[in-house]
Amino acid sequence: MSEEINWEQVLEWDKKYIVRTWNSLREYKPVPIASTDGDYLIMPNGTRLLDFFNQLYCVNAGQKVEFINNKIKEALDRYGFLQDAYTTDYKARAAKLIIEDILGNESWAGKVRFTSTGSEAVETALNIAKTFTNRPLVITREHAYHGFTHGASSVTRLKGSRNGIVETDPKSIPRHVPGRADMIAIAPAPNCMRCSLGHKYGSCHDENGELACVKYTRRLIQNHGPEQVAAIITEITQGAGSIHPPDEYVPQIRKMTKELGILWIVDEILTGFGRTGKWFEYQHYGVEPDIITCAKGISSSAIPAGAVIVSKEIAAFMDQYRWETVSTFSGHPIAMAAVCANLEYMINENLVEKARQAGEYIKVKLEELKAKHVSIGSFGGHGVLWIVEIVKDDKMTPYIEEDRNFTHEADALTFPTKIIFNKALEKGVLLGGAVPNTLRIGASLNVSKEDIDKAMDAFDYGLSYLESLK
Ligand SMILES: Cc1ncc(COP(=O)(O)O)c(C=O)c1O
Repeated sequence: MSEEINWEQVLEWDKKYIVRTWNSLREYKPVPIASTDGDYLIMPNGTRLLDFFNQLYCVNAGQKVEFINNKIKEALDRYGFLQDAYTTDYKARAAKLIIEDILGNESWAGKVRFTSTGSEAVETALNIAKTFTNRPLVITREHAYHGFTHGASSVTRLKGSRNGIVETDPKSIPRHVPGRADMIAIAPAPNCMRCSLGHKYGSCHDENGELACVKYTRRLIQNHGPEQVAAIITEITQGAGSIHPPDEYVPQIRKMTKELGILWIVDEILTGFGRTGKWFEYQHYGVEPDIITCAKGISSSAIPAGAVIVSKEIAAFMDQYRWETVSTFSGHPIAMAAVCANLEYMINENLVEKARQAGEYIKVKLEELKAKHVSIGSFGGHGVLWIVEIVKDDKMTPYIEEDRNFTHEADALTFPTKIIFNKALEKGVLLGGAVPNTLRIGASLNVSKEDIDKAMDAFDYGLSYLESLK
């Protein structure tokens, strides 16, 4: 089929008619992809790229799974479109799969509302949290990424991802429109490599073992008055911000929210549906949330879908009222068919366990690379989501001083993540990060040992090159 496509023309139309993100038109270099397969993207000239970005960590079951595609085709033979006021077997079964089959062993999960995207899931979760508590304020954290819509970009604190525009000339004053003004307060991220409170991990616990960043968050909420605070929203591993927390952080945050009587919204949009080797990342920490947001892996992105899962208590509250809201595409029958097929496939193929095993292997490979390369400062993660800090020396000096507070894409060629990206590309591997000094590694839950080896060889090659530049 791809021979019939005039790729010259495709590239011309792409540049001419599409409003682009991340690059000005002058900087923009389109990357044409003719098809996808498993963990690979295939270019029109037949080049196969091993995708260790997993397309924004979305394609949990892998690209183009036959079982999922066939179920979607069946759904297309049955339905065109039905709006949310109607019930379909797909929508009801998708909800049952999540609440009973996946979360049935836990005490908290009550009901689900479907959305089309992650940002909408965050938007919906913020709305529900404020409605349920009747309080205006939401706590978020430095370097958080929660989406691009109004509320979601308010709680997004990763500087270069807050929906603004910047000049292409690094010398000019940035024209950056930051996340909009929903009512938020910003807590520290659990960034042990570069603690914004100036602590060193190991000497940052108080006499009760509470981490300084948790203590600060507690004081922040007390300062605003818990009676004003609806919720704290957290990713667990910060995805775009690329921070993996120390183990005690998550239970301590949960304990604090219970003590202060505020809700805990866990954004599992990137980490959910098996990516971390459990269905949800919070499950690694023996805690239960009040609300979680999902998208990406819920359908392995074969069709866009998202969801908000609320506790039994919140579900019972919402059941009493008329909620005056509508989303045209909530519960879209084809998207719901994709969710059902994806979740059934994941269950039948034991993909969550496969991701856990892949994670154990990735960990061994990263340990080997760390022993070899001074430029790996630290790493953390689980399943098929790993965060690797790249440093200049054993004093943990960052390559790019601004670290996660960078703005200019124009500086990107000096970013270690960009340098490693370019070298890995020579080996046919897509591998890099969203921020200058930190690599984010991901693949499908089904990734093969051979492909992990290939990606880690490319990483090794990139690190050796980076170190040779000194
Ligand atoms: C943690 C997290 N929350 C929210 C979003 C927003 O999701 P979407 O891009 O589907 O709107 C993303 C997207 O990358 C994400 O990683």
